[in-house]
Amino acid sequence: MQLLDGVLVSGHIKEQIKQEAIDWQAAGGKKPHLAAILVGNNPASEAYVGSKVKHCDELGFDSTLLRLPSETTEAALIAEVQRLNEDPAVDGILVQLPLPEHISPDSVINAIDPGKDVDGFHPISQGRMVLGQPTFLPATPYGIMLMLEYYKINTSGMHCVVIGRSNIVGTPMSVLMSRASNPGNATVTLCHSRTRNLKDFTLNADIIIAAIGKPRYVTADMVKPGAIVIDVGINRIEDASRKSGSRLVGDVDFDNVAPLCSYITPVPKGVGLMTICGLMKNTLQAAKQKGI
Ligand code: GUN
Repeated sequence: MQLLDGVLVSGHIKEQIKQEAIDWQAAGGKKPHLAAILVGNNPASEAYVGSKVKHCDELGFDSTLLRLPSETTEAALIAEVQRLNEDPAVDGILVQLPLPEHISPDSVINAIDPGKDVDGFHPISQGRMVLGQPTFLPATPYGIMLMLEYYKINTSGMHCVVIGRSNIVGTPMSVLMSRASNPGNATVTLCHSRTRNLKDFTLNADIIIAAIGKPRYVTADMVKPGAIVIDVGINRIEDASRKSGSRLVGDVDFDNVAPLCSYITPVPKGVGLMTICGLMKNTLQAAKQKGI
């Protein structure tokens, strides 16, 4: 079993991004600038947005974090998005999800200028992705593709089972893995909450991508020996042995599944770090698209 090491791979990719941004600026290009909007104070979202801003600093990008109260109206949030759309200093815009119940994420995402949609969530970005046209790829699936590429894992002809059909991870992941590219060229099965006999599918998988949001849901009896397992889950569970009283686990029962696998991502220090790489690559691309 080989661990797919998010620390190692994201370290390499961040060095590449940093150098590319330096070269771009030396050639007269603009310093990339990411603007993030956080509505309310969901602790997990606070942590994710904080990490995104920190990485901008680390890579020499500018960043703006706009914090709005949870009672912000949809119209007020869309007005802020439109203001950032118009701001020539801003290259990339992300609105951290989930949003409070009274705000439609679709309406907000649709308001983002597709040229600044570094999360790749806008219908235009997703449509281009499905058609295989150049676009911003959603950060987590993009990061997973970068990780498979780094380890030179040839997924051509593999049976890839994606568990979870979210717009953010499962659905775009299924598209990217089935595309005529490497990584890609896989035969993809997209499983979800209504799938009957999930195990019948996972036991036939050469690669499992788990994005369900349920702690340790994928157990050893569901995994074929030699399979590749990519764990997208970040779930906080109680753990009395920890000072904090809790710890993070993935959607995969790592301790029991790992010995079966050819490759597996850990949680933490796996896919989460790759998501940041995807976002930062998109932000640099957004700045470069403006030209010199
Ligand atoms: N919430 C969970 N993942 C993401 C992400 O990749 N982008 C945004 N904006 N919100 C998220």
